[in-house]
Amino acid sequence: MPEKETMQKITLGAMPFMSVMPTLLVGANVRGKPNYMTAAWATVACMAPPMVCVAINKMRYTAKGIEENKTFSLNVPSVKQVVETDYCGLVSGAQEDKSKVFRSFYGKLKNAPLSEECPINIECRLFKSVDCGSHLLYIGEVVEIHADTECVTDGKPDITKINPIVYAQLTYFNIGKQVDRAFATGKKYTKK
Ligand SMILES: Cc1cc2nc3c(=O)[nH]c(=O)nc-3n(C[C@H](O)[C@H](O)[C@H](O)COP(=O)(O)O)c2cc1C
Repeated sequence: MPEKETMQKITLGAMPFMSVMPTLLVGANVRGKPNYMTAAWATVACMAPPMVCVAINKMRYTAKGIEENKTFSLNVPSVKQVVETDYCGLVSGAQEDKSKVFRSFYGKLKNAPLSEECPINIECRLFKSVDCGSHLLYIGEVVEIHADTECVTDGKPDITKINPIVYAQLTYFNIGKQVDRAFATGKKYTKK
């Protein structure tokens, strides 16, 4: 029998770690004006009905807008918008008007601002908010996806065309090379 490979582990303590995260802009109208906030703590929450979620600190100006309208958007910027995206994470709408950082349009919900510049916009109706402590987890039912025509392949958003910003370790990355095919390569697995 081959010798078992040993890997040394150390404990790092409890922290809100996730390997890689998306870089998104949460859009919400606050007192009738669009506001965009950078968010990385976001993911898919449900398939049927389609839902996404984002963890937002209770202090954020954006939280006021979501509470006010019960709607929000998740806008997917491309690497081209990295400066504007980071700016929306450095500055609060409570201090500075961020309504002109992106050109806004509205979709089905009429009061969740969507960024024209971002290639993908996820329009959400608030389903539930979960108070986790410092952050509220806002779960939104997706009512529509708006997509730049040149970022779509076979009716689906295409990340090779969107060129989204990946966030990890206080750094923005773009997506790397394809490693293998999901829901497929596992078929090659042989039991040990
Ligand atoms: C890369 C990046 C990711 C961020 N992710 C989150 C997040 O997921 N949740 C959150 O509450 N704040 C997050 N922030 C901080 C907010 O974007 C920041 O406090 C912003 O100024 C809040 O804007 P607002 O007060 O206009 O809502 C992030 C900031 C950056 C730069």
